[in-house]
Formats: sequence, C-alpha cells, structure tokens
Amino acid sequence: MRELPRLALDAAAFRERYGPWAVIAGASEGTGECYARELAVMGINLVLISRRRDALQALGEALKVEHGINYRAVVQDLAEEGAGLRIVEVAAGLDVGLYVSNAGADGFASFFEDGTAAAHRLVRMNISTLIDAANGFGKHFVARGRGGIVIMASGAGLGGQPNLALYSATKGFEINFAESLWAEYHERGIDIIGIAAPIMRTPTLLRMVPEGFDVSDVYDPADVAHNALAGLLAGEPLQIVPDGPGQEKQPQVQADRKARLVGFVEFTKQFTGG
Ligand SMILES: NC(=O)c1ccc[n+]([C@@H]2O[C@H](COP(=O)([O-])OP(=O)(O)OC[C@H]3O[C@@H](n4cnc5c(N)ncnc54)[C@H](OP(=O)(O)O)[C@@H]3O)[C@@H](O)[C@H]2O)c1
Repeated sequence: MRELPRLALDAAAFRERYGPWAVIAGASEGTGECYARELAVMGINLVLISRRRDALQALGEALKVEHGINYRAVVQDLAEEGAGLRIVEVAAGLDVGLYVSNAGADGFASFFEDGTAAAHRLVRMNISTLIDAANGFGKHFVARGRGGIVIMASGAGLGGQPNLALYSATKGFEINFAESLWAEYHERGIDIIGIAAPIMRTPTLLRMVPEGFDVSDVYDPADVAHNALAGLLAGEPLQIVPDGPGQEKQPQVQADRKARLVGFVEFTKQFTGG
C-alpha cells in the first residue's frame, strides 16, 4: 500500500481533550473501524453506529476485551430523514467529547441518465445528518468547553469530478463546513477538522472498483484515520492527503486555505466584536 508517514499523537492529551466517549457514524468497517480501533487503544468509550448490528457488536466486543472500553452499538441508516437527531438522542446521558462523521462514500454515476433518488439519499447522509449531529454534539461541546468533530470528506471535495457530481458536491460541503466551524470555534476550545481523504483500501472501495483495478498503490485507511486524529489534536482545520492529479501542489493548497481562514477569523471579529 502507499506509504503515509504517521504523525505523532499524544494519547493521554487526546483522551483528556476528547474523552470519555466518542460517537462514530459509520463504524463497522473501513475507515470507521480504523477510527474505532485508534480511539479504543487510547481508552475512549465508543458509540458505534451503522446499519449492521452484528458487525458493530463483534467490533465492540473485540475492543472491549482488548482495551477494556465500554461501547454501545446503534443501528441507524444515516441516509434516513432525522438520522442526525436520533444519533444525538441515543448518546444523550453519555459525556461525548468527539463526533466522527465517517460514512459517506458513493459510486460512479451518470447524472442526467440517472434519477435523483440516490442523490437525495447522499445529500441526507453527507449533509442533513452531518448538520444535525454536529449541531447537537456541538451544543454539548460549547457547554463543557471542549470537544472535537472529525469530518471524513474526500479529495473529490476540493473540486469537481466527472461521474461524481453529487459525491464531489457533498464532499465540498463537508470541507467548507469543517473549515467554517473551525474558524468559528477553535478559539473556544472546540476542534473541527475536515479530511480530504485519498483513495484507501476499504471494503467499500473494493466493492466499487472494476475487476482488474490496481489497488496496490492506494492508502491504508488505518494511517489516514490515525493522522486525522493527530491533526484534530494539533488544531488543524483541514488535512489534504496527497492524491490524484496535481497532488504535488496539495500541501500548498492546504497551507493557503488555512492562511485564508485565519485571515477571515480576524476579519470577522470586526463584525462580531469577538
Ligand atoms: N475509500 C476511499 O477510497 C475513500 C476515498 C476518499 C474519501 N473516502 C471517505 O471516507 C469515508 C469512509 O469511506 P469507506 O470507504 O470506509 O466507505 P463508507 O461506505 O463511506 O463507510 C463504510 C462504513 O459506513 C457504514 N455505512 C455506509 N452507509 C451507511 C448508511 N447509509 N447508514 C449507516 N451506516 C452506513 C458501513 O456500515 P454498514 O454497512 O454496517 O452500514 C461502514 O461501517 C467516507 O466518507 C468516504 O467518502 C473514502
């Protein structure tokens, strides 16, 4: 697999800032499972959400035995109307310090030839559910004075892509949403990071690619999840993992976007008195 140097991650500092409970939306496999494993190693209890109870319970039990954490398995289709509100509801009563918005992949499609039902499902999962969950957990984070949100976006959100119109558009929403929340809240102890993720060897990807597609040079999702959590703790608004055409320019894109955002944080204080 393609190498991604791992960033330093201070487990004690992470647990202190984002523990004792984390909620992962889309936790049963792929990057979601990687987040669950990383967090369990750091001693953080988990609310694991996806559509398959058996898979969630198997993962939760394994992490409980290996790392002594507590977990709750919650079956919820994230593309359903009201899913974000229900996620916040099921976690009520737990001291949640971290929300990971993970599930959100989609396959290649032809926009005019297809209907729009699948597009609206993707909008509900990647936009509506994210809005409600981030809002609900964010209120709790404001009240307790700390917390974090990780939003798994994609490099496809950095610009348009053929046959990925809705995917690219919703991932663009996720990136701008993450940056905006970072700009609004990072000085108040709440960290938000958007991940412009690269192509990764996950079960979803393997189901999606045509036979014979070379997956030998894609990234390991465990590396990407690890660096996402390290980036959150380091206070970064956006992490772009180099991938695709123009990838050599992406470190500069990441730096330019952050500089722009920091500029707007100061500019906006003229309006908010902040
Ligand atoms: N893999 C890549 O190459 C790649 C590249 C760039 C960005 N990303 C982003 O990384 C994130 C994770 O990607 P992934 O490849 O691991 O695949 P994914 O299909 O987005 O996520 C898989 C996980 O989400 C759950 N899930 C999927 N649809 C769900 C739904 N409607 N309701 C509830 N849970 C759902 C699955 O569990 P159940 O089946 O049990 O529901 C599984 O645990 C996504 O946001 C994706 O856009 C991936």
